[in-house]
Amino acid sequence: MLKTSHKILITGGAGFIGSEFIRQSVAKGLSISVIDKLSYAGDLERLKDVRNKIQFYKTDICHKSQLEQIFKKEKPETIIHFAAETHVDRSIHDANPFIQTNIIGTQNLIDLSREYKVKKFFHISTDEVYGDSKKGQFFEDSPIKPNNPYSATKAAAEFLIKAAIRTYQFPAIIIRPSNNYGPWQYPEKFIPVILMKALKNNKIPVYGKGAQIREWLYVGDCARAVDTIVNKGKIAETYNIGSYFERKNLDTAKTILRLIGKPFSLIEFVPDRPGHDFRYSVNCDKLLKLGWRPKIDFDAGIDQTISWAIKHLAWMNKKLK
Ligand SMILES: NC(=O)c1ccc[n+]([C@@H]2O[C@H](COP(=O)([O-])OP(=O)(O)OC[C@H]3O[C@@H](n4cnc5c(N)ncnc54)[C@H](O)[C@@H]3O)[C@@H](O)[C@H]2O)c1
Repeated sequence: MLKTSHKILITGGAGFIGSEFIRQSVAKGLSISVIDKLSYAGDLERLKDVRNKIQFYKTDICHKSQLEQIFKKEKPETIIHFAAETHVDRSIHDANPFIQTNIIGTQNLIDLSREYKVKKFFHISTDEVYGDSKKGQFFEDSPIKPNNPYSATKAAAEFLIKAAIRTYQFPAIIIRPSNNYGPWQYPEKFIPVILMKALKNNKIPVYGKGAQIREWLYVGDCARAVDTIVNKGKIAETYNIGSYFERKNLDTAKTILRLIGKPFSLIEFVPDRPGHDFRYSVNCDKLLKLGWRPKIDFDAGIDQTISWAIKHLAWMNKKLK
């Protein structure tokens, strides 16, 4: 287990998953520094309950010299790299910020981690690097075949990490979570979009016929899984994080509408996303062997997400402007 004196640096900690990981880690008394450029997707509001217990640096991982000052000062022993441009639709519109942050930013972190002798580097990737599959599951050694600019940049970052592991014995572990949902998710992603539109009685856009399948993972479970890998994962290995809970997008939209008492007639089918991946499904037996289990099933997770959103409508509405 990581000791409370261990120096952990987290990138992208003001984002959806990174902030959940930080809230859990601070509750355990861990010593955390955070780097986040506070892009449109980052918000310190997510860290308000732990703000005085962490060291926060508003820095862009693409600015190597600024990043180096933080390495010099903090001398991190472990890095957990969540920072990324994350929205597929935005990457289809303009891939450049994704290339900068997800590829160049990651290489900057590799270079500085080597120079400052970081002991372990955890790279948060995504199940989207596998591409899609109509049946079966993706294992950690399945081929990588990304289909959109976002997942292509995440795959490129993974290749840089793998190259560093092989070339320099860089002490890294790659982590590939499936689709997360839960409190504090930016309302451009599928579940909070549906929720916010439905609460306002607006039409709910569902791509194509809503037949695409996603494997839904509650953000609290994802953060606990990352923590398990941080404590028990083996260097140079890759770990999937999934829930084994797959659902068609149309059924997810209907579940949310049912739970908040809104009619299915709000659903509006819109032209499919170009190159839209049909289905993701990861095998996470390797992670289960480390002792992690998801705790929140989909119904409970959606229930908690809805209750949270209703209490935080002002925050959600601010993001929609
Ligand atoms: N959300 C999901 O369903 C999901 C699934 C699988 C993998 N992932 C991966 O998990 C990680 C976290 O995802 P998330 O949903 O929390 O993302 P998010 O978009 O909510 O947060 C990303 C954070 O990174 C910060 N950031 C962006 N560019 C930066 C830069 N150049 N320098 C410093 N900080 C920068 C943003 O300000 C933001 O706080 C990402 O690497 C993502 O690819 C997410």
